[in-house]
Order: sequence, then structure tokens, then C-alpha cells
Amino acid sequence: MPVDLSNGKPLAWDSAKLDADTKAMLDNLQPNILQGHVRESMSLLLVRFGDGPDGRRFLRSLVPLMKSARKHLEEVRDFNRSKKPGTPYVGVGISKLGYLKLGESTTKFTDNAFKSGMKRRKDTLSDPAVGAWEKHYQEEIHAIVLIGDATSEPVAATRTRVLALLPKSAKIVGEEKGEGLRDAQGRGIEHFGYVDGRSQPLFLADQVAAESGTNWNPFFPLSHVLVPDPLAPHPSRHFGSYLVLRKLEQNVRAFREAEEALADALGLKGDDRPLAGAMLVGRFRNGTPLRLHGKPSSDGHPVQNDFSYRDDPGAKCPVSAHIRKANPRDSRDGGLERALGVMMARRGQTYGRRTDRPWDDAGPETRPTGGVGLLFMAFNSSLQNQFEFTQQTWADNPDFPAGDTGHDPVIGQGKREVKVRYPKTWGGTKLSAPQRQVPQTVTMKGGEYFFMPSLAYLKSL
Ligand code: HEM
Repeated sequence: MPVDLSNGKPLAWDSAKLDADTKAMLDNLQPNILQGHVRESMSLLLVRFGDGPDGRRFLRSLVPLMKSARKHLEEVRDFNRSKKPGTPYVGVGISKLGYLKLGESTTKFTDNAFKSGMKRRKDTLSDPAVGAWEKHYQEEIHAIVLIGDATSEPVAATRTRVLALLPKSAKIVGEEKGEGLRDAQGRGIEHFGYVDGRSQPLFLADQVAAESGTNWNPFFPLSHVLVPDPLAPHPSRHFGSYLVLRKLEQNVRAFREAEEALADALGLKGDDRPLAGAMLVGRFRNGTPLRLHGKPSSDGHPVQNDFSYRDDPGAKCPVSAHIRKANPRDSRDGGLERALGVMMARRGQTYGRRTDRPWDDAGPETRPTGGVGLLFMAFNSSLQNQFEFTQQTWADNPDFPAGDTGHDPVIGQGKREVKVRYPKTWGGTKLSAPQRQVPQTVTMKGGEYFFMPSLAYLKSL
């Protein structure tokens, strides 16, 4: 039976009743797409091939270091049952120019953003000029090798094995190191200090069952992340996913100053001051959603995700908040994000080390102005309709979801001209006087689009 990407039910990946095509899909799909792989420590190798046949041999030689999505899910199950550690993650993505270098035709790929490459999408995304990107992103990048695990040792050992396979004709044009950042309670956070990676589209039955709720349905069909791998031996059983990689530098000091300035402008005092940052993000630092609480709920609670904005015109969570712009949750019947197929699977990791404690209340002057940020990564079935749509039509659009909403305060790019009004009190109807938008504190430093092919394709090289 052909794999049903639009199936309205989550995938019971370990069911004995799974049909042969779906089994073949799981045995040939790369991990980290359907479910995030542990990647507390990461190395991202950006590769440029000098010779096509050498490039093909290199990619084929990586297969023994890789595992399938099914193997990964089995490892996760075993870890949950008996704490048995899994194996490192090795993922491979190929850019449009990479496929051409390998001697492939790219006509069968349907995604125009992928076929253009990120450099040529700069105007669509309001990105900085390519000349301002970090040097290695200005170069032609043909492939990315992602290596990740819970600790740095297996990553270093796997990295050495990957580099030993690299032919002389190829070169590593750049490398990124991802390092997980955690707050005092051990929750994963980003550099502005907020819990991140909490809200995700879920595809698998065991994951959906673990996250039951009544206000927000986290289940999304496989069609949100999978497409047939057009160059694989059997595209009806061999699937892949488009990966967006963007290095996003965070000016933490400037963001903290913006939080303070907004708290002052809204007259917030004492315990209420964190409301300002929460209005920018949509959650308090410990992940408490502003839609549900006007103060951070006590630590130790699982970070809540069962909410929609259906009955909140912006009195609790401003419509301009990052998580509301990036996922409007039920803004129209059935949910815009669902109807338009926008939700992507975010799999990023933070980068850069710092000596301060990102989650505490120390003043802005103690915070880094650069050198730290997010290696934003996400899997898409359509880069145009998911990542690019979110960035361009929602985050960068001051009129989404309504006129005078302003840019996404965290990731919005482009001139922030309109003035924005915030609720004066949480849940109250009175609005503040129009405020100048907070300045842009996230800067794109480079990136690329890749396709993560099936293992069957890599073996066929
Ligand atoms: C959620 C921060 C970049 C899309 C979040 C959350 C935080 C955050 C703190 C809340 C945690 C959660 O709900 O999972 C950041 C920072 C970024 C960044 C600091 C850059 C440095 C991006 C980009 C996009 C994006 C580039 C897409 C274009 C989303 C989405 C959610 C989210 C879709 C989930 C919203 C929901 O479902 O409620 N982000 N983010 N983020 N972010 Fe970002």
C-alpha cells in the first residue's frame, strides 16, 4: 500500500500491522525528521566537492555511520525503557548545487526555494546582503554533514571518522558547533533565556498520545515534513525532507535592554516586569504561555502547550508575540497553520559559550552582544510554503495577523515602522499608547537549503 502522507492518524511506527511500503519508508528515512534526535552536542560540517565521482563515493561511504528513522525510534524506546544509550546521529543534506556537482539533474525537485538556493532568496526573506554573511556561507556549499549526540565525546569520535572519509578533492568550507543551553532546572533554552523547542508538530502515535490536550492538537500529517525522494530507486517508498539552516546571531544585551525599556514604558513594576519579555516572546522565560498565565507558573511544572488563541484577541498574548506570529493557532476555522500546511519541524541548536547565566535577572550590561545565537534548522516538505512563508508572510509582515501588529519582535527582518500597542494589564481591555517596536536583535549570518535524501539514494551512489 503506498505510504499515505496525508493520513489523518498519527503513524504507529512500531505496529505489527505496518504495511511493506511504510516499513521501507522508515528503513530508508534519515533520523531527526519525524522525531528530534538528541543533539546536545553538534558538529555541522559544510562540504564543497571538487569532483563529482569523489563526492558520490564520499556520500556513499557515510551510510555505515548513519542509521534509519526506524533504528532511531527503537533507540528512543529502549532508552525510555532501560536508559540504554543510543548511537550518534549522522545526517546528510545536499544542496541544489551539490546535486549538480554530483552529476544529477534537479528538474524532479519541485521546491523553487531549494532550486534557487538561499543566497538568491535574500530579497524574499529580507536577509542581509550575501557580502555581509560569514565568509564560509558566501562560498558554494554542496553538502552538510550533521553529527549530534548527548555529549561531545561521541561527536568528536564520529567527526574524526567522517573527516577520514573526505576525499582530497573535497573541502570543509566551514564548521558550526552547536551546544545545548539549559536553565537551572535543566530545561533547554535559547540565548535570550527562554525555554525553546517546546511546541512542535508531532507525527508519531506514541508522541501524540503523550501530549493529550483539548485546546491544541499537536498532531500533523507526514505531508508536513516528507516528500518522495525524486532520485531514489523507489520514490514511492523512499522519502526525504528539505532542511533549512540559518545561523542567527543574538544580541542578548540589546534584547535585554528592549525588555527593560518596554517594562518601563508600560509602567511594569517588581514581579510584573517579566511580562514585558513575555509579551515579545509569548511565553515567560520558564516557558509559561502568556495565553494561560499572567505570571510565570511555578517551576517544576511541565511547560504547557495546550492552548489556542481562539478567545484571546491579544489581551493576554499580544498578536505580535513571536510564538503567535510564527504559529497563529486557530486564527481561522481549522487553524491557518493547519489549513495552509505551514508548520515545520524545528530541530535547531544554540551555539556559542558564555559565562553569565542566561535565565537570571542580571542587568543587560553583563550580557553578550554577539558570538552567540541559534543554528536554526527545520524540516519542511515545502521550503516556500513553510519556512519562507513563516518568515516572509508572517514574521516580516507588520500587517499579520491584523493591521499595525508590527514585525515579529524576535525574528522579524526589514524596517520596523508601525507603532504597536500592548495590553496595559494581562487580560485587560485597556491598551498602552502606541510604542515604537523593539529593535532587531537577531541577525542572519548565513545559511543554505538542503535536501535530506533517503538512505536508499545514498547507497545507490
Ligand atoms: C517557538 C525563540 C527563530 C519559529 C519559539 C520559542 C522561543 C523561540 C523561545 C518558544 C518555545 C516553543 O514554543 O517551542 C526563537 C529565537 C530565534 C527563533 C530566539 C532566533 C534566534 C525562529 C525562526 C522561526 C521560528 C527563524 C521560523 C521562521 C518558531 C515557531 C515556534 C517557535 C513556529 C512555535 C510556536 C508555537 O507553536 O507556539 N521560538 N526562535 N523561530 N519559533 Fe522561534
